[in-house]
Amino acid sequence: MSETTKYLLDESQIPTSWVNLPADLGPPPHPPLHPQTKEPLGPEDLAPLFAMALIEQEVSPEPEIEIPEEVADAYKLWRPTPLHRARRLEQALDTPAHIYYKYEGVSPAGSHKPNTAVAQAFYNKQEGVGKLVTETGAGQWGSALALACQMFGLECEVFMVGVSYDQKPYRRAMIETWDGTVHRSPSDLTEAGRSQAEHSSGSLGIAISEAVEIAAGAEDTKYTLGSVLNHVCLHQTVIGQEAIAQMELAGEYPDVVVGCVGGGSNFAGIAYPLLRRRLSEGLETRFLAAEPAACPTLTRGVFAYDFGDTVGMTPLMPMYTLGHDFVPPPVHAGGLRYHGDAPSLCALVKEGLVEARAVPQTSAFEAALRFARAEGIIPAPEPAHAIRTVFDEAEAAKEAGEERVILFNLCGHGHFDMAAYSAYLAGELEDLEFSEAEMDAALARLPEAPALT
Ligand SMILES: Cc1ncc(COP(=O)(O)O)c(C=O)c1O
Repeated sequence: MSETTKYLLDESQIPTSWVNLPADLGPPPHPPLHPQTKEPLGPEDLAPLFAMALIEQEVSPEPEIEIPEEVADAYKLWRPTPLHRARRLEQALDTPAHIYYKYEGVSPAGSHKPNTAVAQAFYNKQEGVGKLVTETGAGQWGSALALACQMFGLECEVFMVGVSYDQKPYRRAMIETWDGTVHRSPSDLTEAGRSQAEHSSGSLGIAISEAVEIAAGAEDTKYTLGSVLNHVCLHQTVIGQEAIAQMELAGEYPDVVVGCVGGGSNFAGIAYPLLRRRLSEGLETRFLAAEPAACPTLTRGVFAYDFGDTVGMTPLMPMYTLGHDFVPPPVHAGGLRYHGDAPSLCALVKEGLVEARAVPQTSAFEAALRFARAEGIIPAPEPAHAIRTVFDEAEAAKEAGEERVILFNLCGHGHFDMAAYSAYLAGELEDLEFSEAEMDAALARLPEAPALT
C-alpha cells in the first residue's frame, strides 16, 4: 500500500466550474421572502446590496457555473490545496479508520474564505463597484475580503464582532495590512450598531446589520457575505471537487465526510460535490455537520423563516434558527457564532441527508491539541469542532472493527487563535452554556411569516 502523506494536484487541475447543488434539488419549496412585504424575493430587491452576477448565481438552475479566468488566476496563488492522509493521527488514535483532511489553511488569509472572496470581489469590480463592506466573526472572512479587494482594486470596510476584535488584534492588523478599514461592532457609526450598544460583545447578526446599513446608504458600495448564501456555498465547491480527485489518487472514497458549520460555507464546499455523487450514484456516504454546543442552530434551533441579521434588514430565510436577536455566548470559535445557517444546508439536514452534531468547546480544543501533536498543524477553533467529530467517528470505526474512510475539511489554521490555546493549556477555558431562556425569548420574537413544513 502506498505510504503517501500528501495528495497533490497540479495547477492545471484547479476545477474549471463550481458545483451548484441546489439545482439538483429542484426549485426550493420555501423561497426567501422580502422582509417587509413577506412576498418571495425578486432580483430587484437584492440589487442595491449585491452584484447582479452574484444575484443570478443565487437562484441559478444551472448544475455547474464556469469559473471566470481572472478568478481561476487568483486561485492559483494557493490552489489546489493539499489533501493529507493523517497517518500519524490514525496511529495516535489507534483506529482502523483511514483519516484524510483537505487543508485550506494554505491560503494567504489562512482559511477557505478567500475561495469566495476573490470571486465576489471580481464580479463587483466588473460591475463598476468601488467599495465592499462586510461583517466578520473571527476575522477570517474580513481578512479574506481585504485580500481579495486588494487583488481586484476595491476599497474594503469591515465590521468585526466586538469579542473577536478584542481577542484577535492581529486579524485586525492583517485586514489593515491589505488596506482594509476595520470597526469594532456594535459601533456608533450606524443606527443598527447604536441600537445594540448594550450587547457590547457583539454578534455576527449585529455586524451584518451594520454592514448592510452602510451598503444600502451608499451609491458605489455593495455588501458581501462570507457564508450562508447559495453563491457563497457555490464558490467553496472547489474544495470538494479537488478532494474527489485527490481521493482517487489515494485509491479510496470517503464513507464519512465531516465539516464544521458556522453559516455552512466550508461544509458545503467539501460536502456538496460529494453529495451530488451520493444523490446521482446512490452512494451511502454519510455527512456530518459539527456545530458548537454553545450555538446549537442545527441541533436545537427551530426550522422557520427568520432574518439573517439582528435588526431585521435582510430577507427572511427558511432555516434552522435560534432567533435573529439571540446573542450566542462568546466562545473562541467566533466564526461559528451565528444564529442561523445556510438554507441549502438546513434543507439537507431536514431531509436527513446531513446529520448534525453539537460539540462543547473544551472537547473541541482537546481534540485540536491531540491533532496538533500528531499532525503538526494547529487548527483554527472552528475546524476543531469537526476534528472532535472525526475522533468520535474513528472510535466508532474501532468499536465496529471497520476500516472506514473519513474525510474532513481542515478549513483554517489557528495561528491567530493562540490566546484561546493558551487559555485551554492553562485550564481556563470553559464550556459556556447558552441561555435557554434567552433562546426561548428570541424564538418568541421570530418574525410573522408562513409556517414551514
Ligand atoms: C476557519 C473558519 N472555519 C469556519 C468558519 C465558519 O463559517 P462557514 O460555516 O461559513 O464555513 C469560519 C468563519 O469565519 C472560519 O473562519
